[in-house]
Amino acid sequence: MNEQPGFNCQRRDLVSKTCGEDLNNCKKVVHSCEPDLNHSHPGFNDVVYRKRRAEIAMLAADYKHGTDPPRVEYTEQETATWKEVFDTLSQLYTTHACNVYQKNFEKLKADNVLRNDTVPQLQDLSNYLYAASGYKLCPVSGLVSARDFLACLAFKVFPCTQYIRHHNAPMHSPEPDLIHEVLGHVVMFMDQKLADFSERIGKASLGASDEFLVKLAALYSFTIEFGLVREDGQVKAYGAALLSSYGELEYALSPVPEHLDFDTSIATVQPYDVNNYQKVYFVAGSFQHMLHNFE
Ligand SMILES: [Fe+2]
Repeated sequence: MNEQPGFNCQRRDLVSKTCGEDLNNCKKVVHSCEPDLNHSHPGFNDVVYRKRRAEIAMLAADYKHGTDPPRVEYTEQETATWKEVFDTLSQLYTTHACNVYQKNFEKLKADNVLRNDTVPQLQDLSNYLYAASGYKLCPVSGLVSARDFLACLAFKVFPCTQYIRHHNAPMHSPEPDLIHEVLGHVVMFMDQKLADFSERIGKASLGASDEFLVKLAALYSFTIEFGLVREDGQVKAYGAALLSSYGELEYALSPVPEHLDFDTSIATVQPYDVNNYQKVYFVAGSFQHMLHNFE
């Protein structure tokens, strides 16, 4: 990448000048993937779902950094959706998830942080994750713009939605939901190296040109969201979008999509589709090697 020095945190000056008040402004939401506007969203024609999603999103709109994330009282239907996804993915992880994910997932279950019968609360997860890798979770009302999202990463803050995907499409969500944030991101963010890698992408985004930001967003997407890795001769997933969607997890590891060896110069210009499964996934030679490229 032309601005590769950004990964070496030359924008520390910007980091030090920013505080929680600035982060309160980093929550510009991209509304196009929401059920009110996205015709292909499974909740588009479900007025009850849209109202409930909006209620939970409103809680995040009032959130101030430095305070506790709001608690949500999840309904029986939302809990049933969580359980269906949790149980289905739990079975797939043993064959489809990378070793780091499996180890972290088992620890979260053993510590009773994740259970199939209870939707976890952001505040509890944030406290747990902070102790593990220094990252905190903050509530947001939807898909945050790439610039604001990456800026939060620079300050070890991970924006999380709190609503649950539509019950008729538990296998995949066209927008981030709590299941994606937890079963995708939180489990992987317990790994210090991945957390540090995310922080470096975030710092590189501070003050970056729009053109460079697009490349960083693509790099983030094809690693943290859709990343695959080769382990013991097999391809496994470490990307959050895959590990939180049993539809795309099985698809990504099938012979249908194209698997390319991870290459920064290609991944940063590869188009990605937020509404559909990807046509191309990048496979790292090893998890540690991929992260080491950016140290
Ligand atoms: Fe995500």
